[in-house]
Amino acid sequence: MGVGGYLLLPWRFLVVLSLRLLFLLPTGVPVRSGDATFPKAMDNVTVRQGESATLRCTVDNRVTRVAWLNRSTILYAGNDKWCLDPRVVLLTNTKTQYSIEIQNVDVYDEGPYTCSVQTDNHPKTSRVHLIVQVSPKIIEISSDISINEGSNISLTCIATGRPEPTVTWRHISPTAVGFMSEDEYLEIQGITRAQSGDYECSASNDVAAPVVRRVKVTVNYPPYISEAKSTGVAVGQKGTLQCEASAVPSAEFQWYKDDKRLVGGQKRVKVENRPFLSKLIFFNVSEHDYGNYTCVASNNLGHTNASITLFGETEPQEGQGGDNLW
Ligand SMILES: *[C@@H]1O[C@H](CO)[C@@H](O)[C@H](O)[C@H]1NC(C)=O
Ligand SMILES: *[C@@H]1O[C@H](CO)[C@@H](O)[C@H](O)[C@H]1NC(C)=O
Ligand SMILES: *[C@@H]1O[C@H](CO)[C@@H](O)[C@H](O)[C@H]1NC(C)=O
Ligand SMILES: *[C@@H]1O[C@H](CO)[C@@H](O)[C@H](O)[C@H]1NC(C)=O
Ligand SMILES: *[C@@H]1O[C@H](CO)[C@@H](O)[C@H](O)[C@H]1NC(C)=O
Ligand SMILES: *[C@@H]1O[C@H](CO)[C@@H](O)[C@H](O)[C@H]1NC(C)=O
Repeated sequence: MGVGGYLLLPWRFLVVLSLRLLFLLPTGVPVRSGDATFPKAMDNVTVRQGESATLRCTVDNRVTRVAWLNRSTILYAGNDKWCLDPRVVLLTNTKTQYSIEIQNVDVYDEGPYTCSVQTDNHPKTSRVHLIVQVSPKIIEISSDISINEGSNISLTCIATGRPEPTVTWRHISPTAVGFMSEDEYLEIQGITRAQSGDYECSASNDVAAPVVRRVKVTVNYPPYISEAKSTGVAVGQKGTLQCEASAVPSAEFQWYKDDKRLVGGQKRVKVENRPFLSKLIFFNVSEHDYGNYTCVASNNLGHTNASITLFGETEPQEGQGGDNLW
């Protein structure tokens, strides 16, 4: 990415050409690169995008000419600046050091830089690679989704950075452990309700702290009645029939006595609904109230029902008082 284009012309050929332009290198003299003695450039320089890079070249007092090149382009020749880039500055140099600084480094600055010196009429060069690191960044991620149980899903998380970040997916849930995918893509076939929840994409490359983003996956399923119990209540007591159902989206409840729909908010009976629970409350149970009741739980994926009985009890229930016994 980004650093490939200039390699079309052989790098060394261009450097030699540039040095000839600079009269640092008489025609016909072969260039010895990577000479063990002089010029001695530092090892490869690694900096983060936006930081400054210092390119150091060690020289000695026999050196008559010095220059720094970016590939084939002369940046500085001695104290003279040849390039227009204001980010390139010459550092205060000594008899033993000839260094430049590149400020606010960007990815396109990555590549080979050459320190060229002439000592006793012998031109020598040494090369240093500027390596630019970039923090990971998630540039594309799936949106939150809501799907039906049994569907196939595919989540995508695209990240950039230098070096190329490692992308992983994991399911954030109290039971799920570990990574679900060591990849930009997370595919789940036949998703279950247990697989709903948040999925976290993490991109890391050791340059900076990993970046994480979350995607919420909602798995819809039809209601399932988990609890509905028949209840015994004595006449004159308060009685409650309860029906619990899990569903996504949350179930809506209806109560029937035999075939007749019961509506809440009446004087003697009240229906109390919560997302996963419905209560049919009798303020003062009478003989007429005994019988079979059906709780129907429904959402847009389906409905289910359960039948329970309100039956009479001769003894008052504990803690409810017993004044109205017959
Ligand atoms: C410097 O970087 C270049 C290009 O990435 C690589 O080929 C070379 O091995 C590196 N040298 C050192 C000393 O790390
Ligand atoms: C080095 O050369 C590359 C390719 O020509 C250029 O994009 C980049 O700006 C140069 N960097 C410096 C610091 O001169
Ligand atoms: C889910 O993927 C499997 C395997 O690729 C395929 O057989 C099935 O038809 C897919 N189901 C749906 C609902 O697309
Ligand atoms: C319950 O209903 C009976 C018969 O209608 C009535 O006599 C009694 O006072 C009622 N009890 C309460 C607590 O409302
Ligand atoms: C209530 O339901 C049970 C079981 O379904 C049935 O045996 C009984 O006859 C029903 N009672 C009434 C009053 O409908
Ligand atoms: C309860 O479910 C059964 C079986 O699915 C169905 O035949 C019946 O009509 C349902 N009752 C109500 C009140 O929805």
